[in-house]
Amino acid sequence: MAIPHEVIEEIKYRNEIESAISQYVNLKRRGKNLVGLCPFHSEKTPSFTVYPENGSFYCFGCGVGGDVITFTGLIENLDYIESVKLLAEKSGVTLPQDGYDDSMQRLKNRIYDINRETAKFFHTQLMSDGGKWALSYLLGRGLTLKTIKQFGLGAAPDSWDSLINHLKEKGFTINEMLTANVIGKSQRGSFYDRFRKRVMFPIINIRGNVVGFSGRAMPGDDKAGGKYVNTSDTPVYKKSENLFGINYAKNNCAEQMILVEGNMDVISLHQAGFSNAVAPLGTAFTPEQVNLIARYTKEIVLMLDADAAGQKAIRRASQLLENSGLNVKVVVIPDGKDPDEFIKNNGADRFKALLQGAVSDIEYKLLMAADGLLLDTDDGRLKYLNNAAQIISSTDDVMTRDIYIGRLCEKYGVSRTALTAKVDEYRKQNKRFKQKQEINDILRPKYTKDDINPERRKSTRGVAAEETLLAVLLQHPDFVEYAKENLPSDKMITDLNRRAYKTLLEAAQEGLSVDISVFAQSFSAGEVGYLVSLQNGDKASNNAKIVLKDCIKVILEENMLLNSSADEAEGIEDWASKLQEIINKKAKGNENNGR
Ligand code: UTP
Ligand code: MN
Repeated sequence: MAIPHEVIEEIKYRNEIESAISQYVNLKRRGKNLVGLCPFHSEKTPSFTVYPENGSFYCFGCGVGGDVITFTGLIENLDYIESVKLLAEKSGVTLPQDGYDDSMQRLKNRIYDINRETAKFFHTQLMSDGGKWALSYLLGRGLTLKTIKQFGLGAAPDSWDSLINHLKEKGFTINEMLTANVIGKSQRGSFYDRFRKRVMFPIINIRGNVVGFSGRAMPGDDKAGGKYVNTSDTPVYKKSENLFGINYAKNNCAEQMILVEGNMDVISLHQAGFSNAVAPLGTAFTPEQVNLIARYTKEIVLMLDADAAGQKAIRRASQLLENSGLNVKVVVIPDGKDPDEFIKNNGADRFKALLQGAVSDIEYKLLMAADGLLLDTDDGRLKYLNNAAQIISSTDDVMTRDIYIGRLCEKYGVSRTALTAKVDEYRKQNKRFKQKQEINDILRPKYTKDDINPERRKSTRGVAAEETLLAVLLQHPDFVEYAKENLPSDKMITDLNRRAYKTLLEAAQEGLSVDISVFAQSFSAGEVGYLVSLQNGDKASNNAKIVLKDCIKVILEENMLLNSSADEAEGIEDWASKLQEIINKKAKGNENNGR
C-alpha cells in the first residue's frame, strides 16, 4: 500500500522547499530562485539551485535534484517512505496508520531486525561461560562492564553456523541473512557465519538502529584472516556514510566532536568521559562523513595517530573539511600512541590537557612544514617561510592571516611587508587555481546526461525531442492529455524517458498534480535531477503546444527508424513489411520532391 497522495500533497504543502532546504544549506536569493553551496558535493561557488515556484531543486555541479522529499532523503540518508515520515513528523501531519511498507522498506526492517537479534546473540555469548575469552580480553583492555553494555559489545563464537542456526530459529531466511551480510556463501554453495571467534562491535546509526558490525580478531590469531572484519554495504548500511559512536556523540557535541581512527579509541574516550568521539569505519574519511559531523557540531578535533599514515590522514581530512564551515583543530598524540593507549597510560586529565592544547589546522601545518628543514641556515629559513606563506594563504580570514604572519616575522626576523606580500601572492595563485578547478567541476558533473540516460546516443534527434517533450509537459501539465492521445508511451525511445513519460501519464490519470514529485519514489536522485533540469530549462517557454506536436512527430519517426533497423538485426518476421513501408515513404517523398 502506498501513502495516499493527498497526504503527500499535504506534507509538501507544509514543508516548503525553501525553508526545508534552508535548514541545511545557506541559501541566497537570485532572481526568483535561490542558490547555495551544494550539500552533496564539495564546491566553492554555488551551483545548487532551489526553485520555490515549482518546489524543486537541482545542482548544476553534481546533477542531483528533486523535490523536498528527495532532498530530505538524500541529506538524511533515508529512503522515500522514511523521508515522508520524517517530514510528516516535522510538520505535524499524522500519517494514516502504517501498513504502507513497500517491499524495500519491509526488507530493510527485516535487516534491522536481524542486526538487532545478532547483536543480542553476540552480547549474550560474551556474557556467558563460552564467551570468557572475549570478556577477559575486553576487561584486560581496561573497559568496564558498564561500557561493554553501553556499546553492546559481543563475542562471535568459534563456530561456522551458530549464528545461522540461531537466526533460523528466530524465523529469518538465509536470503535475509545474506542481505544483512552476517553470513557468507562458500564456493561450494554452503553458508557460514561471517564473524567467528571475534570480539564484536555493533555499529549503530543516528536513529539508534544496529546497521552493521565490526569484528576484531584475538591477538595472535593467525588463522583469523584480517584484524577486523566489517559489514559490507547493505540496504541499511553504507560505511562511507556512517561513523562509529555517532549515536552517542551526536548528543554530546555542542562544542566539538573528536575524530579518532578506531573503534577502540572511541570506546576508551567515551569511557573516560569524552563522549563526543567518533571514528570512520575502516575507510578513509569521506565527504559524507564530513556532512554528518557538520550537522551536529561546529568544531572537529582531528586526533589521528602520530605515524606517517596518521599524518597523511590528517592532511586529507583537513582538505575535505575546508569548505564544511567547521572549525578544524588538530591534536598530535605524543610518542606515536593512539588515543586509547594514551588514556590508558596517562589518564583522562592528561588527555584533557592534550585536547586543550589542540592547535588550529594551520598551526599544525606550520609545525609540520618545518620537518626536515635546517632552520638555522638562511636557505632553510627561506624555504620554511615560503611553505609557511603558502599555508597561511589558505585561510580566508584576514585576522587569522595577520596573527600568523606576525608570529613568523617575530620568530624569523623578516619584515611584515615582505611576508604579507608573499602570502598575497599565494592567495592570487590559489584563486586562479580554484577558478580553474571550479570550471573543471562544472564541466565534469558527477552525473552527466549520458550517465543518467545511457541510451542517449541511440538517436540524438529522438532523444532531444523526448527531453523537450518532458520539459513541456512538466511546465504545462494541461498538455498531458493531448500527449497521451497522440503518443503512446511505448513509442518513447529511451527507457528512462519512457519511464518518466509513463509516470506523468499515470499521475494525470490518477488525478495527481503533474510535477517533479511524481518521480520522487521510483527514480534515483540523478534521474530526478535530470528531469528537474529539463523542467527548469528554458527549452519550452514559447509556443509550447507547437513544440509539443513537433516533438511527438520526431519521436514517432525516430522510433520507427530505430525499430526497423532493430528488427532487421534480430531477424523478426515483419521487418520486411516495415522496411517496405519506409522505402515506400521515402520513394514517395522523392517523387514529391521531383515534381
Ligand atoms: P588499528 O589497527 O589502529 O586498530 O585500526 P585499533 O582500532 O587501534 O584497534 P586495537 O587497539 O588494535 O584493538 C584502526 C581502525 O581501522 C579499521 C578499524 O575500524 C580500526 O578500528 N581497520 C583496521 C579495519 O577496518 N580493518 C583492519 O584490518 C584494520
Ligand atoms: Mn588501538
